[in-house]
Amino acid sequence: MARVGLSGRAKQRPSRPRRALVGLSGFSEADRDLLMRARDVRCHAYAPYSHFGVGAAVLTKSGAVHTGTNMENASYGLTLCAETSALLQSVAAGDFCVESIAIVGGPLDGGKGNGAVVTPCGRCRQLILEAAQVAAIDTRVLSSNSDLSKVLVFPISSLIPHAFGPKNLKRP
Ligand code: THU
Repeated sequence: MARVGLSGRAKQRPSRPRRALVGLSGFSEADRDLLMRARDVRCHAYAPYSHFGVGAAVLTKSGAVHTGTNMENASYGLTLCAETSALLQSVAAGDFCVESIAIVGGPLDGGKGNGAVVTPCGRCRQLILEAAQVAAIDTRVLSSNSDLSKVLVFPISSLIPHAFGPKNLKRP
């Protein structure tokens, strides 16, 4: 039921991943390959300020994979996320029908960190949603920690419910 006004705060349930697996054994070869491409590109992350490296790999309908890493800046707010960078590569290749995006992240300084999987930030969710709309599918987001020992899979629609999108810009 839709709530009106601000008084009754709607119960916020965290979106549940469609699949949570420990290790890669339950994944298809295509998913495993995508996760490994994201893990491998992470070593090129430019993250001298946070020391948190993220790699992303996008699989498109054509079967091509486009990768990217985070790129930080001394003016912190200008930082670009790995997902943004991978999606840009896909656009630049004229290949923006994104089926899945794998995201792998964690501290670069040798430590394992807390081992948490990296889910996309709000801005990246909106960008992935745009790609999903171009592809006319519910793009899959594979979120992993740095050693691929924990992976969660979400449809993008579950990560950005009630999203702003092209429908909002349609004129009668
Ligand atoms: N980062 C990403 O690249 N993707 C995410 O989904 C989360 C955060 C980067 C931005 C910044 O360089 C570092 O991780 C720490 O926030």
